[in-house]
Amino acid sequence: MSEPLVLGIESSCDETSVGIVRGEQLLANEVASSMELHARFGGVVPEVASRAHLEAIGPTLRRAVETADIDLSELDAVAVTAGPGLMGSLVVGLAAAKTLAAVLGKPLYGLNHLVGHVAVDLLDHPAGEPARPLARPTLALLVSGGHTQLLTVGDITGDVAEIGTTIDDAAGEAYDKVARLLGLPYPGGPVIDEAAQGGDPEAIRFPRGLTAPHDMARHRFDYSFSGLKTAVARWVETRRLEGGEIPVADVAASFQEAVADVITAKAVDAARHHGIEHMIIGGGVAANSRLRGLLGERTAAAGIELRRPRPGLCTDNGAMIAVLGAQVVKAGLEPSGLGIGADSGLPV
Ligand code: KG4
Ligand code: ZN
Repeated sequence: MSEPLVLGIESSCDETSVGIVRGEQLLANEVASSMELHARFGGVVPEVASRAHLEAIGPTLRRAVETADIDLSELDAVAVTAGPGLMGSLVVGLAAAKTLAAVLGKPLYGLNHLVGHVAVDLLDHPAGEPARPLARPTLALLVSGGHTQLLTVGDITGDVAEIGTTIDDAAGEAYDKVARLLGLPYPGGPVIDEAAQGGDPEAIRFPRGLTAPHDMARHRFDYSFSGLKTAVARWVETRRLEGGEIPVADVAASFQEAVADVITAKAVDAARHHGIEHMIIGGGVAANSRLRGLLGERTAAAGIELRRPRPGLCTDNGAMIAVLGAQVVKAGLEPSGLGIGADSGLPV
């Protein structure tokens, strides 16, 4: 069989996106974000996100088909995120994907969003050149506003296991909440990243969640950011009560250091523990300058090869679902069928 032509739909959070691939060649990746609508509220509002998906899905689909310059009848399969994500957001993408598959008479694959973040690396190569296959096994570090996960990946079409996750807030959520309490706009990640450039990362020693010996016994590869967020809030509050100025750059840099330190230390520890020599990162927080830098240093010191897909592929997009769909088609897996439901807590 020639390389499968697959259309992928992603709508698990606040991005409505349609990607089209032929095997591991990217043909289109259209993304409509409702982030600006959520900025007013300081975070993603599920009801607002669902409505925005409904408005964006049609035009996004049409743009992707035009960009890829294909005829829908040529498709080999339709792929869609079935979970995890916001229920009201997932169902919009699923309804669109089912309709396409039913009308065109094509197989439908409901796929896992987290695994899509790993598969997307197959697209990160110059156009016309072959893809670099994913090393087996690979450790995936996924950090965004919705997730903070460590996955061991033997084979993206079946052998994926979660070995660590956050027990409270996602890393990006912590960025967004700390930005809000410093009076900075949403989304907080890029703004704190920039503010931190002028600050001293050692000015304030903020806590590294789940690193105390008694926590490590049960949660060695898990994350927690709510204690860090509370520590920043207390520090800022105390300083205000004392009538002092808030050194925003120092707070941002010290907070960012705590996040990058704990994320990278646990990821490298997990790779070593599982004897894995390859790591890949994904999610919006993977764009963070300190996280990228520190992870680069620590993986190099540990002899781990690090893959960092370009930022446009790290954030949520339809192409990651399309390329995972192409792998699933090539592996000969059974389609999901038109009756598939959305699962907001879908495990890998
Ligand atoms: O993957 P993404 O676009 O959407 C999902 O949440 O699924 O990630 C968005 C998150 C937001 O919380 C945002 O604040 C964070 O990624 N982010 C960053 C940076 N750029 C985006 N966090 C830290 N540093 C950045 N440079
Ligand atoms: Zn994501």
